[in-house]
Amino acid sequence: SIGNTIEILGKSYETDHLTNTTPAILKKVGTNLHNTPGHPLNHICRRIETYFNSAYVRRGNPRFSVYNRLSPVVTHEQNFDSLLVPANHVSRSPQDSYYINSEYMLRAHTSAHQRDLVRTGLDAFMVIGDVYRRDAIDSTHYPVFHQLEAVQLFSDFELFSDMPNPESMSLFEPGVRDDNKQERHTLQTALLLEQTLKSCLEGLMRALFGQDLQMRWVGAYFPFTHPSWELEIFYQGEWVEMLGCGVMEQKLVDSAGATDKAGWAFGLGLERLAMKLYSIPDIRLFWSTDSGFLTQFKNKNFDEPITYKPVSKHPQCVNDISFWIPESFSSNDFYDLVRSVAGDLVEQVTLIDEFVHPKTGRGSHCYRLVYRHMEKALTQEEVNSIHQQIEASAAEQLDVQIR
Ligand code: PHE
Repeated sequence: SIGNTIEILGKSYETDHLTNTTPAILKKVGTNLHNTPGHPLNHICRRIETYFNSAYVRRGNPRFSVYNRLSPVVTHEQNFDSLLVPANHVSRSPQDSYYINSEYMLRAHTSAHQRDLVRTGLDAFMVIGDVYRRDAIDSTHYPVFHQLEAVQLFSDFELFSDMPNPESMSLFEPGVRDDNKQERHTLQTALLLEQTLKSCLEGLMRALFGQDLQMRWVGAYFPFTHPSWELEIFYQGEWVEMLGCGVMEQKLVDSAGATDKAGWAFGLGLERLAMKLYSIPDIRLFWSTDSGFLTQFKNKNFDEPITYKPVSKHPQCVNDISFWIPESFSSNDFYDLVRSVAGDLVEQVTLIDEFVHPKTGRGSHCYRLVYRHMEKALTQEEVNSIHQQIEASAAEQLDVQIR
């Protein structure tokens, strides 16, 4: 696609050697599911906003400003550098993200907006939006999903207001960094930020899933927070990771001009939350335009409990595909191709066999493709025809040799 331009949300971008967005992906940009009244993702957002603005207020005023219409087109700098992601970090791999060109990409997380929003002077905000990642194909992964991010910054006055003698406490000191705190933060700063963050998120999960919900905190790593955690909830017999969070790196906060404040941030995946909360079995359903899905959420109050009742499940068709791969091959290239050719008709793709020919040294992959339409039964002929198109496109575009 070198020398061409692509159009996204009314703007033109020149493509170059890094461009790896597919037309199938670009078609999703601007859909705005999270802002569509009656859509389950919109219900979830409104429940979370309600929690933050009622159960959790600052002297009677809503605390968090909501940004839910920021363009998903960001610079690499916003998505990575602004968040202190090292230049050689694995997350920058073109195998994992959708690059528009050498300057722009589709955001891989809503954290991409943290620095710029802090820079505008805000000290409490949420960002809700679509994010894009190249990934496997199964019932819980889709290359576009939605995140809700929140940031809260505190001045010393705000953070220590409930302490016995706040005048004696300070946010910063020259210290050492260890597992529990950053070098610039006092122990009190670190502890109070951790406490307010964790109780805010535990309260949110209880507001969504009920007061008896079991939860646990697990240590995590993000380049832009320290310390960092993930919150897991115990749901229907298993522990499920719900969100990532942590104390914002002071270097980031400083770089945004809020040098007299410290704060925390978290980011959660809305589909994952909605799938648990409403018993939605397949992530493709969020993109369904079928009334069988949408009517179950339309005209419902966002705060009434909803349990999705699966519209009849149609039979699946399974077809394998085997090919010799060129050296540069990566599975995510194949997954993108499958999505481009078959759209949402493929429910799952699994690499079931992989070997290297002992003489020629050539690699071979075998993938199992599970076909199933969400809304109707597929005939064997329809499946065969799509499968052949996938074989032909793979041979043509990925330089593989079908076996
Ligand atoms: N951006 C992180 C992710 O997508 C989540 C996160 C947000 C972690 C804010 C810490 C703070 O996984």
